[in-house]
Amino acid sequence: MIIGVPREIMHDEARVAASPEAVAKYVADGFTVLFEKGAGEGAFYHDEEYKKAGAELIDGPKEIYDRSDIIIKVKEPLFNEQLGAHEIDMMHKGQYIITFIHPASPVNHDMVRKMAAQGVIGLTLDGVPRISRAQNLDALTSMSTCAGYKGILMAANDLASFMPQMFTAVGKIDPMKVMVIGVGVAGLQALATAKRLGAVLYAADIRPAAAEQATSLGAKLVDTGVAPELAIAEGGYAKHLPEDVLVKERELLKSTIQDMDIVFCSALVPGKIAPVIITEEMVKGMKPGSVIVDISIDQGGNCEITPAGRREVKHGVVLEGIKNIPGMLPKSSTWMFSQNMYNLVKYLVKDGKMNLDMSDEICQKILVTRDGEIVHEGTREAMGMK
Ligand code: NAI
Repeated sequence: MIIGVPREIMHDEARVAASPEAVAKYVADGFTVLFEKGAGEGAFYHDEEYKKAGAELIDGPKEIYDRSDIIIKVKEPLFNEQLGAHEIDMMHKGQYIITFIHPASPVNHDMVRKMAAQGVIGLTLDGVPRISRAQNLDALTSMSTCAGYKGILMAANDLASFMPQMFTAVGKIDPMKVMVIGVGVAGLQALATAKRLGAVLYAADIRPAAAEQATSLGAKLVDTGVAPELAIAEGGYAKHLPEDVLVKERELLKSTIQDMDIVFCSALVPGKIAPVIITEEMVKGMKPGSVIVDISIDQGGNCEITPAGRREVKHGVVLEGIKNIPGMLPKSSTWMFSQNMYNLVKYLVKDGKMNLDMSDEICQKILVTRDGEIVHEGTREAMGMK
């Protein structure tokens, strides 16, 4: 089988879907790898390394899309301005694409329809279920780890003060207070990173298990007032909360949020719009110079005034709404992503053929389009198709 790795065309995207190490593993397994020249440069992986790993280096994406059986990418297919063609238009019937498609998100609905119409088989990485046997192919978890780490570093950079407690010849400086709202994968990594930087930690989550993990990192728990039976859905995931419960949660968290130097927002219920936990009124009551890093911005954000894709200062508070945080850590995020992608391809390809076993939970959850149809449940629901 032929695997194609085109260069990412999203503005400022430095990652690539395969590291040289992953290419060497594909080649050892018998795949041919077509790699677009220069595609690894943003992540400091160079063409010579890919060549040495056994990749066939190709000029431009067209030939890659023409010849490959499976296209692997980091970001969803986009319009290629340089070629004047959408990446999906370069694909053909029966070809596979594996990437973060975010198919349920309304901005991607047209692209998903295009994918189905073209007869392309789309597999989305954001569909990988968080079950133990899928851990090593879960790229979303890897990217959340990167976002938790780098997001806290961004916040530390935005602050006008030292993060740790300092004893200096002129006196003592108090440590910064950091609150993480939504202590899942990204949130836990954010807490761990803030701890390493010497901050005083606070945490809030509606799942008791998450709250417990936060305390094991030394965070002080802030009560959300949400009863466990309201908070936990099937599979242990958080539940989407009704507005009246969220109003109560905001009330309970408000005074702590307003006493923080950094608030890291990573609260999410999978497949849903992010819950609004911080209103504009609450931001107005925060300390001047404090920072909100809202990494749930792709799903609308946990703070009602976070600017999507940008950093802005409003009411004296720095609001970080940067979307592609893992891309700011391109070498590590590419390496992790490539390992996950390799494990997924290896899981799906049996005896040189793609084998989508629809009785398997992983295959069911990642398949978006097949035989000209949109089959992904969450996407069909979001499109009003059922
Ligand atoms: P996760 O599902 O592991 O964690 C989310 C946590 O939020 C869960 O522990 C859940 O219980 C909690 N939660 C849900 N509703 C809540 C509420 N009302 N109050 C308090 N806690 C609540 O998700 P993960 O992987 O940690 O991702 C978190 C967010 O980060 C997602 O929105 C994800 O899309 C985003 N992300 C953003 C990136 C970026 O570059 N901006 C990169 C990677 C992830």
